Amino acid sequence: MAYQTLIVEIEDYVALIRLNRPEALNALNSQLLGELAEALKSAEENDKVRCIVITGSEKAFAAGADIKEMSEKSFVDMFTSDFFGVEAEAIKRIRKPIIAAVSGYALGGGCELAMMCDFIICAENAKFGQPEINLGVIAGIGGTQRLTRFVGKSKAMDMHLTGRFMDAAEAERSGLVSRVVPNAKLIPEAMAAAQKIAEKSMLAAAAAKEAVNRSYETTMEEGILFERRLFHALFATEDQKEGMAAFLEKREPQFRDK
Ligand code: HXC
Repeated sequence: MAYQTLIVEIEDYVALIRLNRPEALNALNSQLLGELAEALKSAEENDKVRCIVITGSEKAFAAGADIKEMSEKSFVDMFTSDFFGVEAEAIKRIRKPIIAAVSGYALGGGCELAMMCDFIICAENAKFGQPEINLGVIAGIGGTQRLTRFVGKSKAMDMHLTGRFMDAAEAERSGLVSRVVPNAKLIPEAMAAAQKIAEKSMLAAAAAKEAVNRSYETTMEEGILFERRLFHALFATEDQKEGMAAFLEKREPQFRDK
């Protein structure tokens, strides 16, 4: 399918989705987020995709929600359309692993989109921020909740209240990103990580994703029980038999998602 605001390539079981509105630093408008939800759904349904990478340009992952699109909207417009709620829910429902590969600005909704992915790899030039306060608003697709869980209350408050940006070194130090790499290595590193994930059992990968995400939603005790039950359930799969047999036979496993 052809998109106007995205470029999608599938290679070695990885879908690379590139946000592509260079004239507006990939600002997230309804069209882009609608197309992104559509592209993710189609990757989810495609057997040739086992992991997804979302990236932007070198200058911007995404500079936030599109301010031009939002500026004249009323409360009633925002509320009745549940502005970006539908798209955010659609992204959250994807069960295949998603990596955000961030170069340049990841601001406002851009930072929130990166945080909606399963983990973030960034380039040395990355800048994260929640500068909505400068526009007289606040984050609207999870920034106050997710950033606080990633970096703690003090840094999250600092960023949401002052609107300051966090560079790549601080983002790594604070636990917002999993790896920082030189700018030129960003896509190769993210693709290599995605290809490594694509070699695993998708059943185990989906279970790992579900269990880690559950840690945000429940108590430690319930989360550990949830994890243990998923661990038990994986013993009903052929992939568990194959994975353990391959280890004992000192060979590479051939997972079949069964
Ligand atoms: C619309 C945007 C945009 C945005 C940049 N542009 N960010 N358009 N929405 N969020 C456009 C500019 O208007 C400009 O278009 C072009 O992209 C290049 O941007 P410049 O500002 O000229 O570039 P530069 O001087 O390098 O500054 C980069 C920047 C700055 C620091 C990233 O653009 C900036 O501060 N952008 C806004 C960041 C922001 O406030 N994000 C939060 C948005 S609210 P023209 O046509 O003039 O060339 C949000 C809420 C989420 O995200 C919740 C939703 C539910």
